[in-house]
Amino acid sequence: MARKIGLVGFGCVAQGFYQLVVNNPLVREQIEIKRICIKHSDKPRALSEDLFTTDIDSLVTDNEIEVVVELIDDASAAWDIITTALSEGKAVVSANKKMIAENLRNLQRFPHEIQNKFHYEAAVGACIPLLKTLDNHYGYEPISKVEGIINGSTNYILGRMFADRVSFEEALGQAQDLGYAESDPKLDIEGFDASHKLSIILFHAFNQVCKPEDILRIGIDRIDSTDVDFAVKNQKTIKLTACCFRNESSIGAFCLPRFVNLTEHLGRTEDAYNAVEISSVNTDKQLLLGKGAGGEATAMAVLADVMSVLDNQQRMIKPQHGELSLNDGQEIDIYVRHQQNIDTSSFTEILDMGSAGGDQFLIGRISLKALKKSPWARHTGNSIIMI
Ligand code: HSE
Repeated sequence: MARKIGLVGFGCVAQGFYQLVVNNPLVREQIEIKRICIKHSDKPRALSEDLFTTDIDSLVTDNEIEVVVELIDDASAAWDIITTALSEGKAVVSANKKMIAENLRNLQRFPHEIQNKFHYEAAVGACIPLLKTLDNHYGYEPISKVEGIINGSTNYILGRMFADRVSFEEALGQAQDLGYAESDPKLDIEGFDASHKLSIILFHAFNQVCKPEDILRIGIDRIDSTDVDFAVKNQKTIKLTACCFRNESSIGAFCLPRFVNLTEHLGRTEDAYNAVEISSVNTDKQLLLGKGAGGEATAMAVLADVMSVLDNQQRMIKPQHGELSLNDGQEIDIYVRHQQNIDTSSFTEILDMGSAGGDQFLIGRISLKALKKSPWARHTGNSIIMI
């Protein structure tokens, strides 16, 4: 008999998940979506009314339901739902990166048995099996760095700005129409979504908690055609990149737009694809590439997680050897196109200065810490891109 699933939310990813279940006979014979909890009962739906409820308690306490699949975008409501479902003895699958990133410390305190009943592969890199790879495949291999492109909509937007020379606003509208962007697209374009995902990656790579708000974060919302021209003139493209690393005594993480060579893997990562490079002691580097946003691509990973929890597949939790401090001392080179004067004393070295479009630009070496605390770095008229 098919095992019962309770679905919470019926947006883009949840509808994709529903279709994957009902359209595949092999899946359909193993699982059945018994009930779907929605917020607005008055919206017209193509499915039978009996399938829907607005009563979350009846779903999470339903004895027949073995797995609760949580796919809503309200992080705090989602946390309440998943903790209740876990305390009811159910397994939980989620794709809610904000909720997970904000609760890593709480998750770390859960007994391993409970951690193993909560899977959220779809939260990072959509269909890319990244968290499973970090947990199990790299379970005994010391990872030194994980970096790449982990937000699909911004990669799509930047791609359109380079290939078709469309404006930022037009490209964002296209990303929204294609279902890549968050319901609040500010989360994508200002780098919040990438910093949430980076916290989760750091947790799985190093079993360390770094709060998203402690990560240096600059989005792509300040990038315009002047920056695109500058990149093209220098045979580069621009990508929103995220990076976390660890050494003996510290961890580090940042999320920044970056000039990338067209020949690099990241430079060739198009559309809403994500690319993540894992560096480790014995492997040098390994690249994972796949579609990082969109209903179907994300739903595919949700389905894989449902099958994993029903199959009791264990995720390996890395041993934790104490808390490592956040290292903001690392220096990076950045380009700043500025409409407002910037305080050059924040830099350890100025490498170049000039004009770009009607603005001035400066290239210099700066520590992550200095960049984080410089008021000019937060000014929305200053475009900052790592070199
Ligand atoms: N808005 C997200 C992105 C969706 O663009 O990557 C997938 O997490």
